[in-house]
Amino acid sequence: MGIVISLLNHKGGVGKTTSAVNIGAAMVELGKRVLLIDLDPQANLTISLGIPRQKVTIYEALRGESEIVPYTCKPGLDVVVSSLDLSGAEMELINEAGREYLLREILSQVVDDYDFILIDCPPSLGLLTLNALTSSRYVLIPLQTQFLAVQGLAKIKQVIDKVRSRLNTDLEMAGVIPTMYDSRRVLNRDVLDIIQKYFEDKVFKTSIRENVSLAEAPAHRKDIFEYNPRSPGAADYLELTKEILERTKG
Ligand SMILES: Nc1ncnc2c1ncn2[C@@H]1O[C@H](COP(=O)(O)OP(=O)(O)OP(=O)(O)O)[C@@H](O)[C@H]1O
Ligand SMILES: [Mg+2]
Repeated sequence: MGIVISLLNHKGGVGKTTSAVNIGAAMVELGKRVLLIDLDPQANLTISLGIPRQKVTIYEALRGESEIVPYTCKPGLDVVVSSLDLSGAEMELINEAGREYLLREILSQVVDDYDFILIDCPPSLGLLTLNALTSSRYVLIPLQTQFLAVQGLAKIKQVIDKVRSRLNTDLEMAGVIPTMYDSRRVLNRDVLDIIQKYFEDKVFKTSIRENVSLAEAPAHRKDIFEYNPRSPGAADYLELTKEILERTKG
């Protein structure tokens, strides 16, 4: 059965989507079958992999209008796309019975087809994110090694604890991913120190360095292993993913 992992941080622009795409692609490099779920109405993941317009998105599936139809990007890597319509879903589904379990039910149809299912969360802690956490065995938290990175972390922890006690007792924090790290900057080193003190051994040993190839790859509609396999970004995501496989026993 596939292991479901959410990439979570309600702060915007911390590297959730970049991590979902490239951890997924690294898992494929390591021989795993991976499904990416784009659960963000911004559809950044869908766009950055250059997926053509699909008839069925995660929105129709959440509304119960269709089963999901994963799109195959390359062998081993499938994606369930998002669309702007999803921005209305939180309001539309608010009166639905079992509204926190809709995604879990959807994923139960395909969980046996993959080794890992990675969910790219929107930058909020609303109903979509709750659905992601209710569906997941593990959470990964990308954190930018910048000033204010640790602001709001207590809130994330609170939400994870609430979901664990009320909706999904299996939920576990797999770890914190330091992103956009530049060891030449004192600030980045200081913030990494603070993150390590706060989360202790939950912080992955591999930090994702700031790397222009990671920012360029989406413009070429490619993951980092297709765009620039020799880049520091590819090396970092491969190392990080080995740690993730170790922690999740995948
Ligand atoms: N390690 C990195 N080095 C350089 N640029 C990066 C790195 N990681 C991410 N970026 C760039 O930073 C921006 C934000 O990253 P990303 O979209 O992954 O964040 P996000 O948390 O998904 O944002 P949102 O909350 O809006 O969904 C993007 O332009 C991305 O290309
Ligand atoms: Mg994103």
